[in-house]
Amino acid sequence: MSTSVENRGQFGSKLGFVLAAAGSAVGLGNIWKFPGKAYANGGGAFLLIYILLIALIGTTVMLAEFVIGRKTQKNAIGALRELNAKYAWIGGLGVLTGFIILCYYCQVGGWTINYIVGYITESSVVYADPMAYFLDMLGVNGFPLKGAIIFPLIFLALTSFVISRGVSEGIEKLSSVLMPLLFILLVGLMIRSCTLPGASDGLAYMFNVDFSTVNFNTFLVALGQAFFSLSLGMGVMITYSSYLSKDENLVANTGIICVLDTLVALFAGFMIIPAVFATGIEPGMGGGFAFATLAGVFMAIPGGTIFGTLFYALLFFAALTSSVSIMEGTVAFLVEEKGMERKKVVLSVSVVLFVIGVFYTLSQAYMDIHGVWWSIDGIQFPILGDFMEYLTDRLLLPLGALVTTVFVGWIWGTDNAIKEATSDGKYEFKLAPIWVVMVKYVAPIAIVCILVAGMIFGMAIS
Ligand code: PFF
Repeated sequence: MSTSVENRGQFGSKLGFVLAAAGSAVGLGNIWKFPGKAYANGGGAFLLIYILLIALIGTTVMLAEFVIGRKTQKNAIGALRELNAKYAWIGGLGVLTGFIILCYYCQVGGWTINYIVGYITESSVVYADPMAYFLDMLGVNGFPLKGAIIFPLIFLALTSFVISRGVSEGIEKLSSVLMPLLFILLVGLMIRSCTLPGASDGLAYMFNVDFSTVNFNTFLVALGQAFFSLSLGMGVMITYSSYLSKDENLVANTGIICVLDTLVALFAGFMIIPAVFATGIEPGMGGGFAFATLAGVFMAIPGGTIFGTLFYALLFFAALTSSVSIMEGTVAFLVEEKGMERKKVVLSVSVVLFVIGVFYTLSQAYMDIHGVWWSIDGIQFPILGDFMEYLTDRLLLPLGALVTTVFVGWIWGTDNAIKEATSDGKYEFKLAPIWVVMVKYVAPIAIVCILVAGMIFGMAIS
């Protein structure tokens, strides 16, 4: 049973949509993941590849998702089914990917609350040994009640609350307040970090383009990061644009959101890496990068406790507007396709993802102590936490984006897509011929090449 278009929510204003979509894009991916990946993959060269992939492939895929959503005014699966029933599975793939991401996203979102509370109530404990504090949160010294249960539960409850209020009341209002705040905080912290004594080494690292460190694996990491960061490949942008009115300019929105998201990632990189160099703290990789390492960084900055609290508040805001969008993808599908009640759906989805999520945090602690592989009777298994990220970033997101471009380029057709993108010719789309080539040939071929080469090469080096 489907809900009629009239009964669905809609974004109340143009700015509301831009902020909500940018709120979805800007999240833990930009601030928790991006700086660590840029650091680990060679600094400047990675930045360059990342920007290139966003400009060529990210923008192409985003517009493809926007036109599908706005044309049909439906959730990801319903949208694909309406355009061509044989391809509804593309939406299903997206909803599944989003759900896997949400399981760990809410856990890390909970960690941000843990750190806000930690900075306010016990900053001396955080400062005494930042890595020990981080590992303690993950459960090294016993069951991580705060890190895996209490704070993720609070984060999840906030996400569910916003979602259950619906599109305009919940998502739009939240993003309209938080996004501008986030931007201001980020710029302030970046300036602070770049002006620390010794920060210039970090800046040099970020600007030094050394291609000797680049391989196919670097491209796959950058591609997965680009899709994750832009919230592409899992139907979220299809769902969001389905709430957008027919007279909005989709092409312009695509440009604005891609630029905003990339700026935030770059700002986060320039906030974290120079500070890491300035303080001489060895950056811990993976989950610890924005937590343990930065706690140490703030310790060395005058006024660090205030900057630290602000930083984690920023990370929390960013995570919340993103988790809301991922959950909306799943919820919209169950409400519209299965005719379930919105509040009940939110509750049941939350319970399932929370239970899976707890194991993510538990396995992170295990990973930090024992390494990436879990060994049972001589057989090695990937740790759940890493496995979930690996599966989504390196496989499901590129795959989701690939089938979306093939669908729009070859099945539904670029003429239909351009008609929707320009609101039936109301807006000019000068780059339309280029976009057609991108969506039909360049993006799918590039994704396949990077996916295959990256997987083979990635396997070989891990
Ligand atoms: N783009 C978000 C981030 O960078 O943190 C994460 C995200 C949101 C991923 C929405 C997927 C998604 F559907």
